[in-house]
Amino acid sequence: MKFFIDTADLDEIKEALSWGCLAGVTTNPSLYARTGGKLADFEDHMVKIAEMCGDLPVSAESQAKTTEGMIEEGRHLASLAPNIVVKLPICAESLAATHTLAAEGVRINMTLIFSAPQALLAANAGARYVSPFVGRFDDIGEDGISELANVVTAIGNYDWTGKNVDNVCEIITASVRTPNHVTQAALMGADIATVPFGALKKCLKHPLTDQGMASFDADWAKVVAAQ
Ligand code: G3P
Repeated sequence: MKFFIDTADLDEIKEALSWGCLAGVTTNPSLYARTGGKLADFEDHMVKIAEMCGDLPVSAESQAKTTEGMIEEGRHLASLAPNIVVKLPICAESLAATHTLAAEGVRINMTLIFSAPQALLAANAGARYVSPFVGRFDDIGEDGISELANVVTAIGNYDWTGKNVDNVCEIITASVRTPNHVTQAALMGADIATVPFGALKKCLKHPLTDQGMASFDADWAKVVAAQ
């Protein structure tokens, strides 16, 4: 399973990229707002992230509400950098926009997916990625991981050749809050987990790793002292 980072914070992206295990970035309006960025700087900010990421995919979300608006904004966002993926929330308008944009070679990440039928509709319209949300489903007392499993099985049952420029529909596990969400997503074969930086750091750490490093250091110090 590939790791994306779910943030618009340049420092977090830079740090996570330096680990050498990042395969992409996802952003959304809330994540951009959290950076304190202004409306006028949004596009430059997305271009900056895209440039930092080389050829790794970077999702930038459209704010248009009509099919025509999404098509226009989608074309524009995709023209900003070759690795920008246009993020659209699942709805009738975005399915129609995806159908047009995918035929033009624009990659779409269909977001706010909470069910297998939504994911199947998105993939059939031409989405390059579908993003089922795990944590927000848990938040309302549902089982986000079970719903993710339904999406993984449903999308995996079919061949998406001819639907988009890459002939695949990858599942981005989104709204990831814990290392266990990452474990469960990988065990069921989700393609990608997009993880906020805080949760990514939690994935890296384990108390027994810290204890083990401390005891190795202490024992090595004894070896050095005995010289
Ligand atoms: O990419 C969007 C998604 O990951 C949001 O996560 O934690 O705000 O539910 P969260």
